[in-house]
Amino acid sequence: MHYSYLPLLASLASSSLAAETVLGVYIFSRHGDRTAKMTPPANLTTLGLEEVYTSGTYYRNRYVASDASHRIHGINSDLIKQSQITASAPTDTVLQNSAQGFLQGLYPPVGETLGSSTLRNGTVVQSPLDGIQFIPLQTVTTGTNSENSAWLQGATNCANAQISSNNYFQSASYLETLNRTHSFYTSVAPMINRTFTSAQTSFKNAYTIFDLLNVASIHNTSANFPHADLLTDETFFQLRTLADQHEWGLAYNESEPIRAVTGAIIASEVVKALNGTITRQGKNKLNIQFGAYAGMMSYFGLANLTLASPDFYGVPDYASTLVWELVTNATVGSSSSEFPSADEISVRFLFHNGTTSNISEPIEYPLFGTDNSLMPWSDFVSSMNKISISSQKDWCTACGNSTGVCSPESLGESGSSVNSSSSSSGSNNSGGGGISKAVAGVIGAMVTLAVILGAELLILLVGGYRLVSKKRLAGTSPESSVGSGANAGGPKA
Ligand SMILES: *[C@@H]1O[C@H](CO)[C@@H](O)[C@H](O)[C@H]1NC(C)=O
Ligand SMILES: *[C@@H]1O[C@H](CO)[C@@H](O)[C@H](O)[C@H]1NC(C)=O
Ligand SMILES: *[C@@H]1O[C@H](CO)[C@@H](O)[C@H](O)[C@H]1NC(C)=O
Ligand SMILES: *[C@@H]1O[C@H](CO)[C@@H](O)[C@H](O)[C@H]1NC(C)=O
Ligand SMILES: *[C@@H]1O[C@H](CO)[C@@H](O)[C@H](O)[C@H]1NC(C)=O
Ligand SMILES: *[C@@H]1O[C@H](CO)[C@@H](O)[C@H](O)[C@H]1NC(C)=O
Ligand SMILES: *[C@@H]1O[C@H](CO)[C@@H](O)[C@H](O)[C@H]1NC(C)=O
Ligand SMILES: *[C@@H]1O[C@H](CO)[C@@H](O)[C@H](O)[C@H]1NC(C)=O
Ligand SMILES: *[C@@H]1O[C@H](CO)[C@@H](O)[C@H](O)[C@H]1NC(C)=O
Ligand SMILES: *[C@@H]1O[C@H](CO)[C@@H](O)[C@H](O)[C@H]1NC(C)=O
Ligand SMILES: *[C@@H]1O[C@H](CO)[C@@H](O)[C@H](O)[C@H]1NC(C)=O
Ligand SMILES: *[C@@H]1O[C@H](CO)[C@@H](O)[C@H](O)[C@H]1NC(C)=O
Repeated sequence: MHYSYLPLLASLASSSLAAETVLGVYIFSRHGDRTAKMTPPANLTTLGLEEVYTSGTYYRNRYVASDASHRIHGINSDLIKQSQITASAPTDTVLQNSAQGFLQGLYPPVGETLGSSTLRNGTVVQSPLDGIQFIPLQTVTTGTNSENSAWLQGATNCANAQISSNNYFQSASYLETLNRTHSFYTSVAPMINRTFTSAQTSFKNAYTIFDLLNVASIHNTSANFPHADLLTDETFFQLRTLADQHEWGLAYNESEPIRAVTGAIIASEVVKALNGTITRQGKNKLNIQFGAYAGMMSYFGLANLTLASPDFYGVPDYASTLVWELVTNATVGSSSSEFPSADEISVRFLFHNGTTSNISEPIEYPLFGTDNSLMPWSDFVSSMNKISISSQKDWCTACGNSTGVCSPESLGESGSSVNSSSSSSGSNNSGGGGISKAVAGVIGAMVTLAVILGAELLILLVGGYRLVSKKRLAGTSPESSVGSGANAGGPKA
């Protein structure tokens, strides 16, 4: 009796599944394979470029191509429509180049036919490189130069997050591991003593030691990798898990949420972007952001993903991606008046550890300790808002910073309106530090510079500040990052 219903149920399930429509997507990706942090400047390698390009191609086949498996409603498949896509990365060579590689996979060259145009006088002009296309890259302030910074908080510029991460070095768990692993690190010293002194060869530098050996195990010839035979699978695994433990301790602590400031900013960026897709009826559809593993780990902690899988305690591999899909079962028409309302929309979270491809696809995970990887939009927003830091002012308060972009003048709290001169990209924060997002590429950089210079001028005029004190603010150079890392467990300590 019962059996006769099965085919019917199955066909119902598959037809309603087929009815699900993806309205928008946010992808947060780590860079591809790079050179080691201890041999700066870090560069994206050829292997790394191939990894992000492969991921980009996978996401093209999932969301963009005309025969995509989860095609985003109304997205252009071949020729880019700039208003549909937002791509961003911090000012960091490895991350920016990774983003460019990913985007070429997402929207590859269109070839001779689409990539040509006919002029008024009849001449047909061919676009170079087989019809290559570009997507402007916005720059986000958080994470500037992160791949050259040895310390996890080196690129956040958030005072309280740095203090909180430093607390980790006083924790019983850290001190116990430091003591327990002393002889283990001594045993790997012959492989790394050209880079780390014996005083630096300890759990204190667990990540940078792992990073150096991981890079060497992929790239170095035997001639440039002394005592490589010491790096057995078991030793490598030990180095990796110790690095995981170390970085997790710096990235997240339940009783001190500010430690996870980067994850809090990511949460806010995701909600803002997806909300924009809903409120503007799907005008903007696809967001791609590149960033460091530190922000991913912070987000894993804040969003309780460790309850979904203990793997989330580990550092995600190169080219890992976090994906938030905006989905609906409502009928979606082509006109904007037929766009579903917020209560018909849900969010699905997916993650893939390492390069994504059609033989290794992202997996759904439930956020916030729930048991469903699909969350109604309103629940998603309220949970994300609990962990988000979404304005420059909130950032300054949470970080305990009160100078520079956090001075009352910059925050527009003392009569002047420096803030309002911001970019036209829809961002409502001023540039400089904290959480702002500026306009695209080279032009973007110049606009940002102009905004900052303008702001500095105003502050000089209005606040009567001295130029000397302002200059320090821009302090996101590798030197200053590693400098603070040195006090705090960076390689120099
Ligand atoms: C990265 O590239 C620069 C040149 O662009 C080079 O000087 C530097 O040595 C490279 N870094 C590594 C670790 O290979
Ligand atoms: C057509 O216009 C283009 C661009 O102004 C020019 O380079 C080309 O020589 C013109 N061709 C003819 C046939 O006039
Ligand atoms: C916040 O304060 C820390 C510590 O004083 C400093 O290193 C950082 O540059 C400040 N950040 C900004 C954006 O001013
Ligand atoms: C580790 O702790 C034990 C006991 O507290 C102490 O005797 C030992 O010297 C410590 N080892 C190191 C390497 O600090
Ligand atoms: C590194 O350790 C090896 C083996 O102990 C030793 O032969 C070598 O001289 C050391 N190199 C440096 C730069 O200290
Ligand atoms: C790997 O090679 C680089 C130079 O390309 C060198 O700086 C680094 O020390 C080597 N790593 C190891 C573990 O020997
Ligand atoms: C969180 O931080 C507090 C204070 O720094 C520390 O006592 C505690 O052990 C930390 N918790 C974990 C899980 O590391
Ligand atoms: C979404 O955007 C609208 C319009 O900008 C705004 O009023 C609303 O507060 C936003 N909602 C969330 C959850 O951010
Ligand atoms: C990713 O994979 C590595 C092993 O390659 C593992 O150590 C780590 O825990 C994984 N991270 C996540 C977030 O799944
Ligand atoms: C759409 O319906 C299917 C079948 O009932 C269900 O599995 C899926 O979760 C629904 N999707 C959304 C976004 O509600
Ligand atoms: C996976 O991708 C490769 C290369 O793009 C393609 O040849 C192959 O057909 C794809 N396989 C599936 C199952 O989509
Ligand atoms: C994460 O889980 C803990 C314990 O299970 C709970 O107290 C906390 O509220 C959860 N946090 C979020 C953001 O859901």
